[in-house]
Amino acid sequence: MRLGVNIDHVATVRQARRAPEPEPVTAALLAELAGAHGITVHLRGDRRHIQERDLELLRQVVATRLNVEMAATAEMIEIAARVKPDQVTLVPEQPQELTTTGGLDVVRHAGDLERAVGSLRGAGIRTSLFIDTDVSQIERAAQVGAQAVEINTGPYADAAEDGRGAQRDRVARAAAAAGGQGLEVLAGHGLTYRNVGPIAAVAGIEELNIGHSIVARAVLVGLERAVREMLVLMDP
Ligand code: PXP
Repeated sequence: MRLGVNIDHVATVRQARRAPEPEPVTAALLAELAGAHGITVHLRGDRRHIQERDLELLRQVVATRLNVEMAATAEMIEIAARVKPDQVTLVPEQPQELTTTGGLDVVRHAGDLERAVGSLRGAGIRTSLFIDTDVSQIERAAQVGAQAVEINTGPYADAAEDGRGAQRDRVARAAAAAGGQGLEVLAGHGLTYRNVGPIAAVAGIEELNIGHSIVARAVLVGLERAVREMLVLMDP
C-alpha cells in the first residue's frame, strides 16, 4: 500500500511567522527519502499554509507523485492546469474550517464536478474526488469521469472505540464499491499511528494520505523517522 504524505503543516509552521522556514520542499524530499510514495499539499483559497510558490517548486522537485488537494473553483483549476501536478484531489472547502470536514456532494454538484474533471483531464491531470462512504456518491464519482476516489476516514478516526468497527466496515464497503466502478481507491483523513492498522488492512485501498499525525510526530522525532514508522504500521 502506498503512503502519500501531506506536508501542509510544515507550511503552517512557516506561515505562523511569515518566515522562510521550515521549507516544504525540504520536507517533501526527506519524506521521499524515507520511502513515501507521494507528496500531497492542499492549496486553500485563503492560502493559510501552502502557497502557489510551493506548488511550483514542488512540481520541479517531487520525484514520486505530486497530489494537490483543492476546491473545484475556476481559480484552482487554472492553477492546476498551469502547474500540472500528477493528480488533483477535489475537496469541499469552507473558509472557517480547521480542516476538511467531509466528502464532496458529488450527486448535488455533478455538473460542476464533471466540468472540473474534464478540464483537468484536458490538461493531462488525473482527478480523485474526496468522498464519504456513501455508495450513491461513489457511483456518481465514476459517472463524472474521476479516475480515483479518496474515501473519507474522518468518521472512522472520530468514532468512539465501540463504533470504530462499524465505521471501518463502511470504509471497506465503500472501497469495494469504488473498485467495482473501476476507480482507483485511496483513503485518508484523521489517520494516526494508533488507528491506521485496520484501514491499512482494508482490501482494495491502494494509497493512504496522512498529514497531521506524521508532521506532529516529525516535530519530535524527525520527518524521516516519522515516515518510516508509519510505513511499517501500514505494511506489518
Ligand atoms: N485527505 C484529504 C482530502 C484532506 O483534506 C486531508 C487534510 O488536508 C488529508 C487527507 C490528511 O488528513 P490528516 O492531516 O488528518 O492526516
